[in-house]
Amino acid sequence: MKKDLVITIFGSTGDLTARKLLPAIAKLYKNKLIPKNVEVVALGRRDYQTDSYLDAMQNLTTKVLDLETLKSIVTYYKIQITEPNAYEAFSKYIQSISHENTKHIYYLAIGPELLGSVAKNISEAKLIEKNNANQVLVFEKPFGHDLDSAKAVNQMLWQYYDEKQIYRIDHYLGKEMIQNLMTVRFANRIFEDTWDSKSIESVKIFVKEKEGILNRAGYYDTSGALKDMVQSHLLQILCLVAMDPPKEYNSDYIKDEKIKVLRSLSIDESSVLFGQYDGYLEEPNIPSDSKTETFVYFKCYVNTPRFRGVPFEILTGKKLKEKKSYIEITYFPTTEQEKWNLPIERNKLIIKIAPKDGVDLTINSKKPGLKENLEQISLSFKMSESVEGNIPEAYEKLLLDIYQGSKTLFTRWDEIEASWQFIDQIKKCPHNLVSYKTEKDIMKLIK
Ligand code: BG6
Repeated sequence: MKKDLVITIFGSTGDLTARKLLPAIAKLYKNKLIPKNVEVVALGRRDYQTDSYLDAMQNLTTKVLDLETLKSIVTYYKIQITEPNAYEAFSKYIQSISHENTKHIYYLAIGPELLGSVAKNISEAKLIEKNNANQVLVFEKPFGHDLDSAKAVNQMLWQYYDEKQIYRIDHYLGKEMIQNLMTVRFANRIFEDTWDSKSIESVKIFVKEKEGILNRAGYYDTSGALKDMVQSHLLQILCLVAMDPPKEYNSDYIKDEKIKVLRSLSIDESSVLFGQYDGYLEEPNIPSDSKTETFVYFKCYVNTPRFRGVPFEILTGKKLKEKKSYIEITYFPTTEQEKWNLPIERNKLIIKIAPKDGVDLTINSKKPGLKENLEQISLSFKMSESVEGNIPEAYEKLLLDIYQGSKTLFTRWDEIEASWQFIDQIKKCPHNLVSYKTEKDIMKLIK
């Protein structure tokens, strides 16, 4: 039967497909957000039938997969994806389920070493023809491992595809609170009018994880926290916090503003701290002399008229006390506070990303009672209490946007280029690699 939407997953036997892609597709399908007439073609080398493939996927994740739904829309297709000859039969299969206007999403859930050959094979088999907006390619980081290699990956892709057909995923951009950042900033006078170096004393962007590297040694050891988390997720958050309002709320104008932030960054060299959790070297498949960092902290500055002089502290690490991600904006004390040396705290706006989404604003208030005591109180908004049903997962939003052709939440090449320029600067800063057992160990070394 001819389909309206075909989602082909390369590298479909991996962790990402089991934990993120299949649950998101099943939900979009159940909520009727993608066509009923959809087929998910799962590609892999192993000898599976669709049912045994889905059972294997269930074993890879602790999430309960909606196997009934998935069995009705997924087809497992055995193929050696690096082998050009294999594409003749595969391409015939794709044609057999496509009509003239079928939307094709090719999702590359594969390692960077396969990207070049697979991108070439897809193009040569004419699965994606340049400029056909109905045929798109999706892939995830790593977008190279430094500026030069990122440029090479990009040049390679541009040989075969138009930029409009390329979707680079940064799943943090699909998270509710990150999507909400622009709204909180630009749709609230109290924040919009105080969002600058006159009112804001410092900004923290902290993404702490409890887990170690899980079973991703091969990838992680070549990456490390700086490239794995900062180059993508944390710099994207920083852009959304520091950017000026876009001329219009469309994808390109928003990206133009984000790029201005990336290009204006400078690092406080003396602040850079790299750590490696105790036990990392004993993880399976990690070389015993690895120098890969699992924790990184630094202070940087956004040299724009809006934020010049305000320190932005960036921190991320694995095997910390708990999973906790947030943005903390600290305001200067009021002039009265300073004049009378009042024992009161600074206002803080805390935008919480994980484990629960929400916003807290701390303000100073008189303690109820006959005495003149002050106390700090918090005005809290919890996202989970304000939505009906579950908050959609990042991948649901991102897959839906790809299907609908909306590019706002995907990174454009020049954003990646500018972020690598900054990451390459950080790598050059002198730093030691400290071993840490607990979060406290490493936090006390922050200057
Ligand atoms: C991924 C990184 O991009 O993000 C992982 O490769 C990290 O190392 C993960 O654990 C964190 O994502 P989330 O959505 O669980 O905060």
